[in-house]
Amino acid sequence: MNSFYVDYVSSRCYNAPAFVRDCASVMDVLAGKQIVLGVSGSIAAYKVAELARNLTLAGALVDVVMTEAAQRFVGTATFQALTGRPVLTDLWALPEDGIIGHVALGRQANLVILAPATANTLARIAAGLSDDLLTTTVLATTAPVLCVPAMNTHMYTNAATQENIATLRRRGIVVLEPEVGQLAEPMVGIGRLPSPATIEGHARAVLGSRVGPLRGRRIVITAGGTHEPIDPVRFVGNRSSGRMGFALASAARDRGAQVTLIAGPTTLPPPVAIDVVRVETALQMRDAVAAAVAYADLLIMNAAVADFRPAELSHQKIKKGADEELMLRLVRNPDILAGLADRHDFVKVGFAAETHDLEAYARTKLARKGLDMIIANEAVASIGHDDIAVTLFDAAGSEALARQPKAQAAAHILEAILQRWPARLAAISG
Ligand code: CTP
Repeated sequence: MNSFYVDYVSSRCYNAPAFVRDCASVMDVLAGKQIVLGVSGSIAAYKVAELARNLTLAGALVDVVMTEAAQRFVGTATFQALTGRPVLTDLWALPEDGIIGHVALGRQANLVILAPATANTLARIAAGLSDDLLTTTVLATTAPVLCVPAMNTHMYTNAATQENIATLRRRGIVVLEPEVGQLAEPMVGIGRLPSPATIEGHARAVLGSRVGPLRGRRIVITAGGTHEPIDPVRFVGNRSSGRMGFALASAARDRGAQVTLIAGPTTLPPPVAIDVVRVETALQMRDAVAAAVAYADLLIMNAAVADFRPAELSHQKIKKGADEELMLRLVRNPDILAGLADRHDFVKVGFAAETHDLEAYARTKLARKGLDMIIANEAVASIGHDDIAVTLFDAAGSEALARQPKAQAAAHILEAILQRWPARLAAISG
């Protein structure tokens, strides 16, 4: 690459809005990545304005390429304001110095996202056409391509469109399924563009699978609490929301890992591109963990597993009758982590939520459960909150992470784990 070209690219990076440079986390895998967002002519084009904004806020350098038809639905000024970068529309009107030629955009990109991708765009790409800047960019890129179709149900299910999608998939392009729901026209069916958050999740997964430091590694993460049923309508449980475990799962996915998330009952939406196993009780979680760790490289046991369960499960709702008291007899649940103490074929990380004597309890659990690392946090200040302060303990010492949003803490935790066991967790290519 010549220096003129580098200067040109860095001056374009410099054009990122100041608010982005201030708030993007260096730990975010999107930070500094060059993403081409190809927008085609669908009414759903307005929805990807939010995607452009979110990718930019995460620190990505987003070059929006619009087809002629796309500009009939949304103006270039919208995307330009949201990305802080010029919007590209014309194959023949690229920057005057000629350095960004018609193929350079695709060559320079880390990821190309086509959203919304119309039936016409899918057909043109499947045919290998390069008749505008969007198709030329796709043809010229060596970056992964994520394609997000959105269209009328009949156009989507038409054999021509389906064959084009199969062709793109066979060539390695990741094509998402549109959602089923209310379309722009008065009709319910398949063809809706997935939400910006869903597209972003898939973009992170695609990028991670290509360049992430954990690509090829299998990671099992447990999240949330467990519910131990008393009768068909009541349970013994705890306040865990599952937020930290879900954040860890997303951070591992972003780094290219193949994640199995074993989640207790929670109202959180499942993270995209992650294999989620839903469980209710500690016994179910134990069985799910046993099955998932068969081929794991790393287990992070974040779940707040109930230590006890009701000794008897009533199959009918317990009636209060005239009693002033109800005695509930509880029996001990198995300790899932301690049960894996003899397994040394994967890295084991536990969590310790304590209200007092944090370090002493954490160190005792580290030893008793045969863990490689334990992550201690103050229970009351963490459970149900959006941010968390943690201390990482292992055989070599400890590392405190300041209070921060759980998503950011999750990224720091994964980087810290990776740093300690580089050989066991290094990316596997291929
Ligand atoms: N854990 C587990 N199985 C259990 C209880 C806990 O695998 N039955 C795991 C948790 O997922 C966590 C670690 O063990 O990673 C510590 O859990 P915690 O609830 O902090 O401690 P306990 O072992 O339950 O001990 P105590 O209740 O005395 O604090």
